[in-house]
Amino acid sequence: MITHGAYAVEPWTVRETELSLDVLAQSESVFALSNGHVGWRGNLDEGEPHGLPGSYLNGVYEAHPLPYAEAGYGYPESGQTVINITNGKILRLLVDDEPFDLRYGRLVSHERVLDLRRGVMERTCEWCSPAGTRIRVRSTRMISLTQRSLGAVSYEVEAVDCHTRVVIQSELVANEQLPQTKGDPRAAMALQAPLEPEEHFTSGHRLRLVHRTRTSGLRVAVAADHVVSGPERTTTSCESRPDLARLTVAAVLEPGQKLRVDKLVAHGWSGTRSLPAMSDQVDAALAAAAHDGWDGLAAEQRAYLDDFWACADVEVEGDEEIQQAVRFGLFHVLQAGARAEERAIPAKGLTGSGYDGHAFWDTEMFVLPVLTYTAPGAVAEALRWRQNTLPAARERAAQLGLRGAAFPWRTIGGEEGSAYWPAGTAAFHVNADIAHALVRYVSATGDEDFERDTGMELLVETARLWRSLGHHDHRGTFHIDGVTGPDEYSAIADDNLYTNLMARANLLAAADVVERYPKEAERLGADDEESASWRDAAESMNIPYNAELRVHEQHAGFTRLQRWDFEGTRADQYPLMLHFPYFDIYRKQVIKQADLVLALYTCGTEFDEEHVARNFAYYEPLTVRDSSLSACIQAVIAAQAGYLRLAYDYTVEAALMDLEDLEHNTRDGLHIASLAGTWLALVTGFGGARRAGETLEFSPRLPEKFGRLAFVMLYRGRRLRLEFTQETATYTLLSGPALTVRHHGEALRLQPDTPASRPVPPPKHLPSPEQPPHRRPNVR
Ligand code: BGC
Repeated sequence: MITHGAYAVEPWTVRETELSLDVLAQSESVFALSNGHVGWRGNLDEGEPHGLPGSYLNGVYEAHPLPYAEAGYGYPESGQTVINITNGKILRLLVDDEPFDLRYGRLVSHERVLDLRRGVMERTCEWCSPAGTRIRVRSTRMISLTQRSLGAVSYEVEAVDCHTRVVIQSELVANEQLPQTKGDPRAAMALQAPLEPEEHFTSGHRLRLVHRTRTSGLRVAVAADHVVSGPERTTTSCESRPDLARLTVAAVLEPGQKLRVDKLVAHGWSGTRSLPAMSDQVDAALAAAAHDGWDGLAAEQRAYLDDFWACADVEVEGDEEIQQAVRFGLFHVLQAGARAEERAIPAKGLTGSGYDGHAFWDTEMFVLPVLTYTAPGAVAEALRWRQNTLPAARERAAQLGLRGAAFPWRTIGGEEGSAYWPAGTAAFHVNADIAHALVRYVSATGDEDFERDTGMELLVETARLWRSLGHHDHRGTFHIDGVTGPDEYSAIADDNLYTNLMARANLLAAADVVERYPKEAERLGADDEESASWRDAAESMNIPYNAELRVHEQHAGFTRLQRWDFEGTRADQYPLMLHFPYFDIYRKQVIKQADLVLALYTCGTEFDEEHVARNFAYYEPLTVRDSSLSACIQAVIAAQAGYLRLAYDYTVEAALMDLEDLEHNTRDGLHIASLAGTWLALVTGFGGARRAGETLEFSPRLPEKFGRLAFVMLYRGRRLRLEFTQETATYTLLSGPALTVRHHGEALRLQPDTPASRPVPPPKHLPSPEQPPHRRPNVR
């Protein structure tokens, strides 16, 4: 675990001032760079030592058989695992006779900085070789947000106090050896040398390798070009073989002299394009990048990020750690989605191979809500990916004996990749989550073309699924039995409240679009009769409620189950799923992650204030937060219910999930949903932002520690700035036409550039309900 203080607390950077090899894998995730298409972990330039080497291309995976001890109908047979593609970021260095390797010699200083405004990772170090030769190395690395296929490294070595012979080897390396993992051996086998060589090529300063994955048959091309500047008599040479292409640069440096290599790396992949076409594609991408050169790329990167921050920044006064963490989170959320373009946004983004590189409901329920108000174009792209995978989802529904589309619980390419159906296939809520994300996107952008061309098909097919999955009982009440909600410590339960409410919204939204676009609906075979059956199901949806306790039930019968023996559970027995059998967890009242509490947020209009408070108080002592997706949602509802101190503690937990490696698995990649959750906790928790019909509502209430919370968001072609202190809320329309928003229920007309202020009602600051023993959030 990264101990506190691993990174300096600064508003716009994440700075590591000392290299600790024990936590190298974690820092590789924290310093990962990506644009949603290409991802490079923050591995050291020289490749070794490493925690986990990682270069990824969104959508490139290898297929492998899924293991089952016992056969059953409809089990997915093939799994998909993200692979480490050809590594283009390696620059090895030889200093006199010795390799620059931080495990040897003496490291005088080492600093890495992730710059959130420039979108680069900078490294500076001074090293003394075992033979006593001192050098300085400076490198800057970026994955371009403007040129999608491109990564770049500027690498410079300087002799410090003596005449020094240096050799830089800039490489493309395929099939790197990976550290052993404990997981499924069949998946591990698929990952050993997953790339079959097709072409290796060098010319001048150019390198290129083309490979194909063995089983999934995807072609991957990576090419590099270089600009070398060094003293007179600097020499270069190139060579290649099937898994390696290399430019070697040799020079002799006098003290103070430098050798610099600027490396541009282009990536491409395809399941259909030919070898020559792929080679040409990466060469062309290099030519485009060379045209701008390193400085041009860096300037574009900065401009792109200036635009992003102007639409997305969150300022927190009074808490520097949260300030840094929310920007760090936003940066990585942007990196995960910015250029994914009709591909998935995986749970770890492209920062590591955790969860096999799969995308889950995390995308729609945690990541897309943030991007909707900060970078909405990325949301449309992510949902178009879902639309593109409809054929697989329809096939899956048919296989399950259902109508419409059944989207996968976890996937890379669109096919179901979960081998554990109780917490996979049965988690049908993913379908309503997709619908929820798209309705939110359309309401926040007014993008009717998208609604008609993409949204409608997704809504209709998911509504069909719900209609065929549920049934009306003898009284006409609609039930959805035998499903798993967000809480994975309950499974195959009847009438999961979150699922039912989300399905209801899905059914109604589908009926609405069918009425709005009858011509297009006809093309999808949807008519008034079908949409009437959706409305009927929605209107008679069962909402499980315990009238005696006056709380909603997470699923029918949940409140009568035996309570988990929290008092008898030791701190080291969490997460429960690794210490207790699922059969026992499933039949008790114990909750892994916000489920009903998530419904209080996503379907807020269904609950009055009293029920928000009663439900939260009931479920809080049962919720153990064995998933990183929980704290941020508990923060949102704790803030709404007036438990501001508790909301703050949960916000801290979500915010520092990766910067402090709270779940001890940051090495596998970042928790993108939790990083997005920091924004959710601040904007929708303390800012109280909610959708309210055709507009937005804000109910700010700040925790004691915050002097000020300010954020910018995009809404229907406008840019809004919200600024809240303990006493005053100020609303400013930065651009776009006038808009009415609501402040604690009061309508407020905003005119361009005319800030409107209102007093903030005194917050409640209630003493918080109890959590299970050992599961209280840390208190700062
Ligand atoms: C959570 C799921 C989540 C997955 C990926 C699991 O631990 O329970 O809700 O989708 O992690 O983040």
